[in-house]
Amino acid sequence: MQFTIHRHRVIDSTNNLAICLAEEGAPGGTVVVAEEQLAGRGRVGRTWCSPPGYGLYLSLILRPEKPVDQLWQTAYIASVAVAETIKLWELPARIKWPNDILINGRKVSGILIEAKSQIVVVGIGINVNTPEFPPEISSTATSMLLESHLSDPIDLQTVECKLLSSLDLVYALYSSSGFEPVLDLWKGLECTTGRHVVVNVAGCKIAGTAESIDEKGDLVVRTGSGESVSVSSGEVIFDR
Ligand code: BTN
Repeated sequence: MQFTIHRHRVIDSTNNLAICLAEEGAPGGTVVVAEEQLAGRGRVGRTWCSPPGYGLYLSLILRPEKPVDQLWQTAYIASVAVAETIKLWELPARIKWPNDILINGRKVSGILIEAKSQIVVVGIGINVNTPEFPPEISSTATSMLLESHLSDPIDLQTVECKLLSSLDLVYALYSSSGFEPVLDLWKGLECTTGRHVVVNVAGCKIAGTAESIDEKGDLVVRTGSGESVSVSSGEVIFDR
């Protein structure tokens, strides 16, 4: 993939700009990176804390030659690429379904996919050098620096460069061989199956054991009554 990078010191949200650029015809491989976001957006209407210098805030436009109802598969490409990138720093990155990246059980990176007709914007936030977090997320969030116990900050440009190479590789695999090998890579990195979970699905809670991930990437949960329920999107909380 040919990357064209738009760099900004400060922006509202890299996803917002990437969506505008895509609507104006920017090709796949267009990347927006910002040092700081004033209105970084997370999944399910949350905000993404994006202070300057501490994190990587990046959005990539993709134009996969796939049916519109398969564009969600790009979320799995992104989470594999992010986890593989973080592992280059010898950190035990794992994926919590569908696409949160954790180190030692705490979230280090989040992915926000926004798709419109044939365009996908893959928004990635990685807490690279964040020294501490606001009280409301301090027990659940972490950064690469905090987990690595390095004394010097990690070079953001290097993380960006490795992430783009990884996205390029996994996307090339997807384009040539389809979703199955990507899902296999994803399964090798996930930490959700086997856990007791509560899944929030559009305001409903499904509790049980995360049993498997099916061929569509859906999470199969076995509930207390023994029933297996497939979930295609939602928010997983580890119960114990
Ligand atoms: C999540 O809720 O876990 C997803 C967080 C995604 C944050 C990234 S930072 C770069 C891009 N721009 C945004 O506004 N959001 C995404």
